[in-house]
Amino acid sequence: MTTAPRLVILDTDPGVDDALALLYLRARSQRERPDLRLLAITTVFGNADIKTTTRNALWLRQRLGLQAPVHEGAAKPLNRPRGRSPVHVHGENGLGDIDLSGPTPPPADRGAAHQKIVDLVRALPGQVTIVAIGPLTNLALALSVAPDIASLVAEVVIMGGAFARGNVTPFAEANIHNDPEAAAEVLAAPWPVTLVPLDATLPCVLTDATARAMAETGDTGRFVHDLTRGYAATYARHEGLEGCVLHDVAALIRLTDPELFEVRSAPVSVTLDGDRLGQTTWSEQGPARQVCLNANGAEVVRRFQRTLA
Ligand code: RIB
Ligand code: CA
Repeated sequence: MTTAPRLVILDTDPGVDDALALLYLRARSQRERPDLRLLAITTVFGNADIKTTTRNALWLRQRLGLQAPVHEGAAKPLNRPRGRSPVHVHGENGLGDIDLSGPTPPPADRGAAHQKIVDLVRALPGQVTIVAIGPLTNLALALSVAPDIASLVAEVVIMGGAFARGNVTPFAEANIHNDPEAAAEVLAAPWPVTLVPLDATLPCVLTDATARAMAETGDTGRFVHDLTRGYAATYARHEGLEGCVLHDVAALIRLTDPELFEVRSAPVSVTLDGDRLGQTTWSEQGPARQVCLNANGAEVVRRFQRTLA
């Protein structure tokens, strides 16, 4: 018996690890028995401003030979000014400062990201999985114009949050901190949410040795190696790691290899002010979320490597 591939909207702020997530998605959709199919890429500010993250999504679509449409999304959080771009992590161009020259990619497709999410979810009731690997602004906007989509999505998988320690502050993770109000709305909505926070992504380290080994295997492996050099240098400087963390890839591997993750089911809330702005905490109220609290990081990375080989 063959199972139909999951239909995925990737909501993303590319971003080095976002680009790796796209590589993983492409590889899973090109297998003999694909288990994922990319319906659309929707962009959001985050790792860079919206023009840059959209340009990166368009460049990646062309570089990876993807067919999915790219729809530009939110340029700023719901009701705060946008913070500074993390150029020390993702480079000035958001993609580790790799060379982006070459033919100019076709422009973004017509229609705002949040409206595309609404249209696809309504057109394919019960079939669409939204994988959100940037700030949650587009998802909150989609819910605000079309609350009915909450009962129509198959699943919402979010890379975001931190229960042990944050990465942009001691308490908060970047995607949630970038738009905490949007995150609070998305986590309170009556749709099925799986959260993949830092607790589960930090063990997923692509070591420099593995990146070097991948570089020997051909174009895709070389691309992974080159893309991650600046990103890995930041992890070396700040965390003493000889490698870099595959945050956004982990959210997709949670879909394809759920057994690699330890999960707790409970409601989650988001702190909306003070020093702990953007912190995710356990709550007594609201719908339970499937929260990944740990992962077999070595195996996550092995499966990433094997899938791309
Ligand atoms: O905290 C990690 C997340 O923030 C990832 O999605 C990364 O791409 C950045 O956006
Ligand atoms: Ca991201």
